[in-house]
Amino acid sequence: MIVSLCSDAAAISELAASRVADLLRARPTAVLGLPTGRTPIQMYAELVRMHKEEGLDFSQATSFNLDEFVGIGPDHPGSYHAYMAEHLFNHVNLPAQRAHLLDGLASDLDAECDRYEVSIVDAGGLDLQILGIGANGHIGFNEPADGLSARTHRVALLPESREGNAVFFGGRVADVPREALSMGMGTILKARRILLLATGAGKRDAIEAAVRGPVTTRVPASFLQLHPSVEILCDNDAAAGLR
Ligand code: F6R
Repeated sequence: MIVSLCSDAAAISELAASRVADLLRARPTAVLGLPTGRTPIQMYAELVRMHKEEGLDFSQATSFNLDEFVGIGPDHPGSYHAYMAEHLFNHVNLPAQRAHLLDGLASDLDAECDRYEVSIVDAGGLDLQILGIGANGHIGFNEPADGLSARTHRVALLPESREGNAVFFGGRVADVPREALSMGMGTILKARRILLLATGAGKRDAIEAAVRGPVTTRVPASFLQLHPSVEILCDNDAAAGLR
């Protein structure tokens, strides 16, 4: 596990985007695992800039998003479908049929999770999984619990995770769905490389526990210690517990 300290969120976003760009240039058919949330917004803006100004090409790439809310469709402004369209997919040349997201309106949600797992395998697996981290140590929506799911699954969101997402629902926590579909811990850990982005003092304890603490289902991100190729990009506030 490598922790790279960056001066601020802008530097993290530029470094993260350069990691993606380097991969796409070396392997144009790369399979990317993508996060949503506040943290990666600037990274996506930088990738869009690189596409427009430097010709960064997504035309042969494939992507799989980490998670999606249950009960809202792609047209809902709070959905991760809408987030990805706004921040990346509407602005780069990634073919829509290879930009995969879970369907939170699927009539059979378990079948939808199985379908997603198969699609990732069929695509050759994830070359690079990019992650944010919840203040409670979640990655994707693998919430702290007595046990974690290995595969893509349906999950009840903890109150703090719904609060963290209220910003995407006009600030109204009550409007944030209570459930989501999420890649599992095994799905994430099978990625060949993992890049985790963390900014701000609110992530300090989660980063400290993930990097220094024991591997425990109570801090899902601590399982990243078991992966052979993880880089964590932190600003000073998020890394403060590692000094
Ligand atoms: C998003 C996701 C979540 C977020 C995490 C941090 O797809 O899976 O794990 O990465 O909740 O969110 P922000 O970046 O908003 O602090």
